[in-house]
Amino acid sequence: MIKKVGVVGAGLMGAGIAQTCTQAGYEVVVREINQQLLDKGMARIYSAWDMMVGKGKLTQGQVEENRVRLHGTLNFADFAECDLVIEAVVENMEEKVRLFPVLDYALKADALILSNTSSLSITQMGAVTKRADKICGLHFFNPAPVMKLVEVVQTISTSQETIETVKQFAVSLGKTPVLAKDTAGFIVNFLLIPYLLAAIRMLENGMATRDDIDEAMKLGCGYPMGPFTLLDYVGLDTTMWAAEAIYEEYKDPLYAPPPLLRRMVISGMYGRKSGKGFYDYQ
Ligand code: CAA
Repeated sequence: MIKKVGVVGAGLMGAGIAQTCTQAGYEVVVREINQQLLDKGMARIYSAWDMMVGKGKLTQGQVEENRVRLHGTLNFADFAECDLVIEAVVENMEEKVRLFPVLDYALKADALILSNTSSLSITQMGAVTKRADKICGLHFFNPAPVMKLVEVVQTISTSQETIETVKQFAVSLGKTPVLAKDTAGFIVNFLLIPYLLAAIRMLENGMATRDDIDEAMKLGCGYPMGPFTLLDYVGLDTTMWAAEAIYEEYKDPLYAPPPLLRRMVISGMYGRKSGKGFYDYQ
């Protein structure tokens, strides 16, 4: 029975996941590496709740209750009572393999550890712990409180019991789970990344303008956002890391990050979160 949830990382995804779990009624502890990042993540959640109150989706009373259930921390020891912890730190395998043994040590023996990674190997994260059967992926989509899908990712070591518990947990968050094997990109990014990279290549080759490509896919396919708006929304850095991870696994040129994407990331143009990407947000 899941009662208390831990979230590692209060960035774009971590904050959205912590918000989602708190709204579903769970006691939530969210951990960041320093007070400044923690404050920023908490502020993001509080402002989403203010927005929801403004739209009549939450009452002020519900926000007060949520605030009582949501705790920020800098300390892994505060995860000791958690039944399930969701990792949402930077998409870098070195960071993940450093983190997982720390979580393995900090958590009680029967707690589950889930990764929100969008394309890195969960098998590799499980392998550096003593509880590989209790480790799987739970991949949310941005914005986590709104998007209905989660990918539940099963490794060759994840037990069926873990998968069933995580699927039920996903449903309790108001999400629809789909089951994917632990292969780079799972379902959504395996299909989405080539589309986003193709849009960048079209722009690089001067085949159409940014605005026309965005307009074409919105109106021609009924997508809520065109590819450049979506790239900025997801984050160019996140997209590049996902593309690199899938390319690494399959060596399929479809997934090779185009030069423009790489140069934009090197220049700190991450999209909405940094104020500039394919569009300007300043
Ligand atoms: N908390 C709660 N509610 C939120 C919210 C938040 N943080 N952010 C937005 N919302 C709500 C808004 O209140 C709004 O609610 P109402 O419709 O009831 O008014 C609703 O979500 C829609 O928001 P907006 O009105 O601000 O904007 P919109 O109608 O243009 O929709 C969108 C925004 C939902 C993001 C929509 O444009 C969309 O679906 N875009 C595509 C997003 C997508 O494809 N995401 C997946 C990216 S891939 C990924 O994440 C995987 C990966 O690994 C890279």
